[in-house]
Amino acid sequence: MPARIHCLVDTVAAPGYMPEFGLSLFIEFDEHRILFDTGAGEALVPNAARMGIDLNSAADIILSHGHYDHTGGLAKLAPPPRTPVYAGRGVVEPCWSLHDDGTKHRLTMPLGSQNILNKCRVREINAFTGIRPGIFLTGPIPCESGEDCGGHFFSDEACTKPNPIPEEQALLLDSGILITGCCHAGIINTVEACRKARPDIAIRAIVGGLHLRHADETRLERTASCLASLGLERLVLMHCTGENAAEYLRSRLACAVAALPAGRSMDL
Ligand SMILES: [Fe+2]
Ligand SMILES: [Fe+2]
Repeated sequence: MPARIHCLVDTVAAPGYMPEFGLSLFIEFDEHRILFDTGAGEALVPNAARMGIDLNSAADIILSHGHYDHTGGLAKLAPPPRTPVYAGRGVVEPCWSLHDDGTKHRLTMPLGSQNILNKCRVREINAFTGIRPGIFLTGPIPCESGEDCGGHFFSDEACTKPNPIPEEQALLLDSGILITGCCHAGIINTVEACRKARPDIAIRAIVGGLHLRHADETRLERTASCLASLGLERLVLMHCTGENAAEYLRSRLACAVAALPAGRSMDL
């Protein structure tokens, strides 16, 4: 079954659309509409309106993880009370990132979004789960491949308590499309989690952020080898993937490697 993916929020935007550091996708699959992440908060509603997309027509809302750049737009939504919101345990836990230069960034879901979440029908996903026919969420992604996932995340501002972002999940469609938010757990681990749970689904396209902005050559090489082994038809790189990483993957993979700016749609 083909899917149509509309990019509502990304760091890059088509002319006339608002760019924002964040991610939000609107997915049409088998007559079913899904809002996958909500961006940081400012771009979601105006970009969706300009694309002619009714956000309230989403039957499901999926939060890939709790970071503000994926959940901030929830504060601007008034989802119908019966719309389920799928999120992993820990989605509202505080989170800070610590960079190599010592700077810290607060990534926690904004309070306005937490307030909306409290009023929603939250479905906690703690394992690989089919949420509708042909639509699956990975639940927590085990880091078993030894992949270097990059980034240092903590639950406290002093950055003493590691936060492994346990709530992170990716979306898998049975037509072989894998959709990621930031991929903090690493794309190799994410692919392995999907293959383990559903070895019958051949992943043919990956769409989303791969969090490779600071990846060194060894990590990029390992990522490229994994993706090459899948025999992908299409790789759609967004958000936190990073330009250098996108260039590297484009040079190493035989498949089409594309971007999907906010305001643009793609059939897969
Ligand atoms: Fe992100
Ligand atoms: Fe993130």
